[in-house]
Amino acid sequence: MKPTKHLLLIFLILAQVAYSQVRTVKELDINWKFQKGDFENAFEINFNDSKWENVTVPHDWAIYGPFDKEIDKQNVAIVQNGENIASEKTGRTGALPHIGTAWYRNKFTISELDLTKKVILFFEGAMSEPQIYLNGKKVGEWAYGYSYFYFDVSEFIKKGENTLAVKLTNKEFASRWYPGAGLYRKVSLITKNKANINQWGTFITTPFISKDVAKVNVKTKASVENGYLVTTVFDADGKQVSTDKSSSKFGNEFDQNIKVENPKLWSPETPYLYKSVTQLFVNEELKDEVSTLFGIREIKYEAKKGFSLNGKVRKFKGVCLHHDLGPLGTAINKAALRRQLTILKDMGCDAIRSSHNMPSIEQLELCDEMGFMFLAESFDEWAKPKVKNGYHRFFDDYAEKDIVNLVQATKNHPSIVMWSSGNEVPDQWGDEGVKRAKWLQDIFHREDPTRPVTVGMDQVKATMESGFGALLDIPGLNYRVHLYEDAFKKFPQGFILGSETASTVSSRGIYKFPVVQEKNKQYDDFQSSSYDLEACSWSNVPDEDFVLQDDKPWVIGEFVWTGFDYLGEPTPYDESWPSRSSYFGISDLAGLPKDRFYLYRSRWNTTDETLHILPHWNWEGREGETTPVFVYTNYNSAELFVNGKSMGVQKKNHSTPQNRYRLMWMDVKYEPGTLKVIALDDEGKAVSEKEIHTAGKPYKIILNPDRKTIMADGKDLSFVEVTVVDKNGIPCPTATNQLKFKVKGAGTYRAACNGDATSLEMFHIPTMKLFSGKLVVLVQSTNQSGNIELSVSGNGLKSGKLNLSSKN
Ligand code: GAL
Repeated sequence: MKPTKHLLLIFLILAQVAYSQVRTVKELDINWKFQKGDFENAFEINFNDSKWENVTVPHDWAIYGPFDKEIDKQNVAIVQNGENIASEKTGRTGALPHIGTAWYRNKFTISELDLTKKVILFFEGAMSEPQIYLNGKKVGEWAYGYSYFYFDVSEFIKKGENTLAVKLTNKEFASRWYPGAGLYRKVSLITKNKANINQWGTFITTPFISKDVAKVNVKTKASVENGYLVTTVFDADGKQVSTDKSSSKFGNEFDQNIKVENPKLWSPETPYLYKSVTQLFVNEELKDEVSTLFGIREIKYEAKKGFSLNGKVRKFKGVCLHHDLGPLGTAINKAALRRQLTILKDMGCDAIRSSHNMPSIEQLELCDEMGFMFLAESFDEWAKPKVKNGYHRFFDDYAEKDIVNLVQATKNHPSIVMWSSGNEVPDQWGDEGVKRAKWLQDIFHREDPTRPVTVGMDQVKATMESGFGALLDIPGLNYRVHLYEDAFKKFPQGFILGSETASTVSSRGIYKFPVVQEKNKQYDDFQSSSYDLEACSWSNVPDEDFVLQDDKPWVIGEFVWTGFDYLGEPTPYDESWPSRSSYFGISDLAGLPKDRFYLYRSRWNTTDETLHILPHWNWEGREGETTPVFVYTNYNSAELFVNGKSMGVQKKNHSTPQNRYRLMWMDVKYEPGTLKVIALDDEGKAVSEKEIHTAGKPYKIILNPDRKTIMADGKDLSFVEVTVVDKNGIPCPTATNQLKFKVKGAGTYRAACNGDATSLEMFHIPTMKLFSGKLVVLVQSTNQSGNIELSVSGNGLKSGKLNLSSKN
């Protein structure tokens, strides 16, 4: 080792010691006790919880089911869907047992030294209406299940063992989707000196950027009488690039401007992150230290030009995401989030909207790191209800606090480029709503003067008349493609955002005949056709949005509903049991891409080839019948062959939105064998080709993991795609075999999911049927490193075996 390396190591160790002396952040993830039910005395220190379940947090108490039609059955007319007669809605919130009260208890230790410190108890979300007790005393409460909140518990702690108790209550009729239940995000204990940097006290912005230099403004709120601050900026390699010392404080805030030369700018394509380390000194003694990752980037929203990032005009290629992670429920898991974003990245997606609530901190960290712009939303309701027990119950008391916490907790994430104060709120009607829109937007501006605010509007005509739409920084239209022109003319901003688009419905690998464009189409098997021509009465197919995105320079992009299927809202089968999850996803609940994935990929991913054929080619019984073939591709034209016979050349053209974005052979007659497509360039020369084949009988199980090596931290996951193939290795697209899963070694079976919205099999039980020939198994690490073996078996099938490993 070179001497400089020695020095660096010593410095790092010292820095670590100093850091741990001034501030510790302890995640309360293990040793939790959990019990569903209400217990009068569960907050008391000596309450006997020995019979309660042992759980780790994040935890979702409802995801273990069972699915039950009666749970949260809502007899309602969904007004925003255009209904005016009430009907029985089953599965609207996922049909999982999330309703009721439950308690969590945790014991942690506090040292004598910590008694002299400031101790903060921080929740990144608790579903819902949390009541927090420490050592038998009530510390505080919150209401909205999606909010981050914290309490100063310095007065409540004692030396030795401390007992934390959390009561959570979920009411029925409180949601339009599966909200999850429990301590589904992180809980942590922050210990710092009395002289310290405030919680969320650092605000980093980059108000001036040129090629040569960027001004990094660091505002730091601190609880200290006299003292000074040293802020040092490091580049992504850990090299110090700049430092600044300041002792001038304005109120409780230090304000530093730091120069970064030759700044590397953050963008989805170049997600470059700097790190700022702010140290608080009093009398030369280090009192506190906070590290913040940030990006240098410039966002602008201008009339005529639209949205630009770092001086380049671009349109959002975004998706909306609900917060559940399919088979994991709502319990936050970074590996699952990273996989979602990896899939979206491959599609060419560059933006996420956290519909319709606060995103997890983990999701924002990943978006910063992997390169996604973010529209962080807050509410689905203001003061007027959508559902009987929705957020309107809390709006007056909590709306401001919830926004303050949203902005304060997340404002340093470069990924966030826009806030949303609401989604399709019924307050779009009436004068009060206009006032509320302004009030909420002003709160966002006060907390963060650097980012604009939108609302996803579905009552576009009302908001054009009332002034509601005109006052927003960014008018967001949900659907209503026919009103874009009018809204653009009427609204003063000079641009329109497709804050929510498409809501096309489909089931992975399911195709219906005849192939026609339809609204609210329902079938006996409660599936929707994957020809991507079915939408709801209020929504549309993707191509109609593409036309607006491509032809109207003033449209600044879209957020498609949705990137992945989610639990609950099984439209168009809201009234059809056993549908219990959505059909809107571009990928299914297991994260497996539907055909639509390739339609978006063909225009959003501008670097890789897309050449995708649909439907599958296993149509026993349809021989000789018309079976249209679509190709989703970035190429403009292609020739299709059935068993070597040409079906002709198709070329994209502007006759209809579909013809503009898809290649379609509508008259193909099915015969088993091979479908081959040859993509052609503008001169008609073959440039690429793809084939699919009719599969024989299911023969063998194939396993394909997203990651072969995972971290031995008891949390990391490998997502293993399971496919059944025939003797020749051709995937069997209609296979529905019941499979069984076994995990041995340094891992455990976590869950499985097949993407079938009507399946009532529980995710955590190690058996499941294939849906359209596939499913996904989630293998979780333990805290021991080593080899993990997954085996998947099914009657009459050659089993699949896979070796994974985990390391520290
Ligand atoms: C929108 C709403 C979403 C979802 C979607 C389904 O109107 O904002 O939450 O319900 O419809 O199409």
